[in-house]
Amino acid sequence: MSKKQSILITGGAGFIGSNFILHFLKHNKETEVVNLDKLTYAGELSNLKEQENNKNYTFIKGDICDSELVNELFNKYKFTGVIHFAAESHVDNSIKKPDAFITTNVNGTFNLLNTAKNYWMEAPFSFKEGCENNRFHHISTDEVYGSLGETGLFTEETPYAPNSPYSASKASSDFIVRSYFHTYGMSVVTTNCSNNYGPKQHNEKLIPTIIRKALNNEAIPIYGDGKNIRDWLYVEDHCRGINLVFHKGKLGETYNIGGKNERDNLYIAQKICDILDELRPKDISYSKQITFVKDRPGHDFRYAIDASKIENNLGWYANENFETGIVKTIEWYLRKYKKQ
Ligand SMILES: NC(=O)c1ccc[n+]([C@@H]2O[C@H](COP(=O)([O-])OP(=O)(O)OC[C@H]3O[C@@H](n4cnc5c(N)ncnc54)[C@H](O)[C@@H]3O)[C@@H](O)[C@H]2O)c1
Repeated sequence: MSKKQSILITGGAGFIGSNFILHFLKHNKETEVVNLDKLTYAGELSNLKEQENNKNYTFIKGDICDSELVNELFNKYKFTGVIHFAAESHVDNSIKKPDAFITTNVNGTFNLLNTAKNYWMEAPFSFKEGCENNRFHHISTDEVYGSLGETGLFTEETPYAPNSPYSASKASSDFIVRSYFHTYGMSVVTTNCSNNYGPKQHNEKLIPTIIRKALNNEAIPIYGDGKNIRDWLYVEDHCRGINLVFHKGKLGETYNIGGKNERDNLYIAQKICDILDELRPKDISYSKQITFVKDRPGHDFRYAIDASKIENNLGWYANENFETGIVKTIEWYLRKYKKQ
């Protein structure tokens, strides 16, 4: 009987990582998942309570920057793959306190990648026996490309132009991953995804903030004039894209993932208020709570993804559009806030 494969998932207690672990375990029943997460303020173990008794799932509390621990885990579990989500991920925090972004996103990524290389490769372009099919999947963002004007889309060829300490730290990690392919022939793939939304996102992010403030009868804060545009993707569609690229993506390549759902922040707030008006009606519309606040410094105007590469080469497509995904998301948050 062949031994089960083990993969390391980092940052699996966060928003996308926890949704991904559920998706992955459902679709890869023969693979063991080890989730390494530091449980920063953004990590939430209850995001994974459905998996607590799954014999293919193990949680390890720890830091991706801890090389001794990461080495120990590679020794113990003999990982054949890594899917690396762990990051400091909130742009506003990166403006106030960039240090942790550089430590985790740059040094942490380097530590994981370098450990995987040392375990899997005996020399540049030469894998140890049995490691030929191993791969390291780096999860990144479309923010590395900078900001767009009214028109145009980010393709995989768009030059990097990160504008915040967050996006600069992600861009740096993308370049380290790229260099390991070109210098050592390391088996890497990278995905750059647009803004995600859906269940289990941290309270600090835009969509959970709008829903929470609306329900608490508080002002719903919208930066500037609310005209900043993001290309929104339902988290489950992102998870399907990652699973596809992890198994079938071409080594050394990057894939953009986005759902062709450009919406401005004011539209998002208004839409959420309209849905809440139906699901939880009160005397006046929730939209009366929308309040414009001082813009974020260096706020990128527009992000939009051209996803033709992953669509044409791997057959990926988004199942949800913003208007369908947001209803599921709001219903999930209504259940969450009711329990608290
Ligand atoms: N959220 C989005 O819209 C979006 C879009 C594109 C790409 N991404 C990328 O996807 C990944 C996941 O994003 P998210 O929104 O789920 O983030 P998140 O902030 O919800 O979760 C991050 C997780 O990483 C863990 N973590 C942080 N530092 C760590 C460290 N040093 N060692 C181990 N674990 C650590 C946290 O505890 C948390 O569980 C990130 O790499 C992010 O850049 C996010």
